[in-house]
Amino acid sequence: MRWIYFVLIVVVVAAANLIAQDVYLKIPADPPTKNPLEGDADAITAGMGAYRVRCADCHGMDARGIRGPDITQVWARGRTDAALFRSIRNGVPNTEMPAHPAPRTSDLDIWRILAYVKTISPATGTAPGSGNAASGEHVFATTCIACHRIGDRGGNLGPDLSRIGAARARAAMARQIRGTMGSFKTGYEPVTLTTPNGQEIRGVKKNEDLFSVQVMDTRERIQGYLREDMRSVSDEKKSAMPVFGPDTLSDAELDDLLSYLESLQGTTAAPSGAR
Ligand code: HEC
Ligand code: HEC
Repeated sequence: MRWIYFVLIVVVVAAANLIAQDVYLKIPADPPTKNPLEGDADAITAGMGAYRVRCADCHGMDARGIRGPDITQVWARGRTDAALFRSIRNGVPNTEMPAHPAPRTSDLDIWRILAYVKTISPATGTAPGSGNAASGEHVFATTCIACHRIGDRGGNLGPDLSRIGAARARAAMARQIRGTMGSFKTGYEPVTLTTPNGQEIRGVKKNEDLFSVQVMDTRERIQGYLREDMRSVSDEKKSAMPVFGPDTLSDAELDDLLSYLESLQGTTAAPSGAR
């Protein structure tokens, strides 16, 4: 009966080769550096439909950003068609920007979407808000840095904001600061543990499973706890980040702060991003 296995292996190897060849033939080693469909009316219409279904949830119907960033400004910031193509195809690692692999998304699909987004992008960057980024930096250094790292300075209870300007839309950052975001960032969900003797441990949830939960407490100590050792483990409704209402942060200060946050683009454009 051995020969059956042998035949099977030969067939499988041959099939794998065929599939691999097919894939290689379909994907050119490098996408063209310039969008071949830019300005093509049919492509723009098709791109609009695809954009609305697949991208608008995160980037907004107008591409000005909801939770994901404003992508009408990417060309003004110096990103090239080829780099944007790669970001859409491969996603941006370690962020919410998903990959869009073939065959579900063809090269043409990506170029169509970019052709559409290009039509709603200003040729030059729009004025980056009315705020004063230098004043905003000062507000940040007094109000926010205890919990947020920028470069090699700042706390760790909240996410690193070194490239938040590339990752989030201005409106989303405003909602986060004013306390109207309505969702928590993964790895930063607020949680309170109560020990058997009634002591409370507050912090953000780094990890959890059926039996245990790993928490960074407000003093930035990370520790794992067994659920059965705790009197209770409760998810909180309010973010571990305080709400900064108009009483503590005026609209003008918020404007400055947002302009500062928008200027934070990290040291590299995007993890995947050769220009
Ligand atoms: C689940 C949310 C989500 C979806 C869906 C999504 N994006 Fe994104 N996108 C993001 C986030 C978040 C970023 C910022 C990543 C970062 O931190 O750099 C981003 C970044 C980008 C960038 C900038 C990348 C760069 O290299 O500068 C482009 C362009 C982009 N997205 C286009 C798209 C398109 C086109 C689609 C639909 C095919 C799409 N996105 C779908 C969340 C999303
Ligand atoms: C006591 C700690 C703390 C302080 C102070 C604080 N934050 Fe936060 N921040 C957090 C935590 C924790 C999160 C993530 C939890 C969540 O999603 O609600 C967060 C999330 C954020 C986000 C979203 C990040 C992302 O990747 O989506 C932004 C933007 C932000 N904070 C800005 C600020 C600004 C600006 C200030 C000062 C006005 C500030 N924070 C003050 C703890 C803090």
